Amino acid sequence: MAEGRLAAEGRVIMISGANRGIGRAVAEKLYTEGFALSLGARQVDRLGPLVLDWDPARVLCHDFEARDRGSASAWVAASAERFGRIDGVVANAGVMHPFGVEEENESLLDEMWEVNVKGPLRLIRAVFPHLKRAGSGRVVNIVSLSGKRVKGRAVGGYAMTKHAAAALTNAVRYSGWEDGIRGTSICPGYVATDMTADVTSFERDKMIPAASVAELVSLALSLPNEASVAEIPVNCVLEPLI
Ligand SMILES: NC(=O)c1ccc[n+]([C@@H]2O[C@H](COP(=O)([O-])OP(=O)(O)OC[C@H]3O[C@@H](n4cnc5c(N)ncnc54)[C@H](OP(=O)(O)O)[C@@H]3O)[C@@H](O)[C@H]2O)c1
Repeated sequence: MAEGRLAAEGRVIMISGANRGIGRAVAEKLYTEGFALSLGARQVDRLGPLVLDWDPARVLCHDFEARDRGSASAWVAASAERFGRIDGVVANAGVMHPFGVEEENESLLDEMWEVNVKGPLRLIRAVFPHLKRAGSGRVVNIVSLSGKRVKGRAVGGYAMTKHAAAALTNAVRYSGWEDGIRGTSICPGYVATDMTADVTSFERDKMIPAASVAELVSLALSLPNEASVAEIPVNCVLEPLI
């Protein structure tokens, strides 16, 4: 550890939804810093262009489908077999569908529960024994400002799942504290990715760059056990407190 930062070299980090958007930006940042990475994507071939010039000794690409109960454990097992250790997980894969409280068809809400809450839960559960062994395991959950407040009707269902995701981070903190596991929720507002491509009410060039979220993930992974940060809200507009 140098100047209060844990070293990247020798540590293995899993990132879900690493093929595009925030997940891709996180993968690029962490690779540059020297971490070994296990990248999960629904369609593993979509990771090909990202890792084309990367050192194969420092990267594993694997299928991960958050709605499939067995997918997380298979990915964790492959990561552990390949690298012999896992030091952290970035639970990033997520979906945002419009769903308000007056909507009777719950299928979109059900998908958000599966991908935004149960997917990260299954991934974290599968990786927990490895994080315990590491002694300084890290869980970074890409939540949202919608995990802190509800801003608008259509975002109601998404916000319900992201509040649950934030609770999951805190559950991790209590379950893993004695074993050196630390959990952080990163809670951004609008980030300029495919997820916000249809947003017309806010200028795209004023949205948070995905690379800035990646900087915060890097920070959360680098802080020692004695400097736990439970939550990092990030905004591109002025709101009270966040
Ligand atoms: N963009 C924002 O404004 C914003 C703000 C706050 C928080 N977030 C959160 O940040 C995370 C990343 O979002 P993003 O903006 O990067 O969105 P994005 O560009 O739409 O990327 C979403 C990622 O999640 C993956 N994914 C979706 N459903 C999945 C499933 N069932 N199983 C496995 N992977 C799945 C996607 O894979 P495919 O490519 O196969 O679809 C993709 O890799 C999400 O959790 C999101 O809620 C985003």
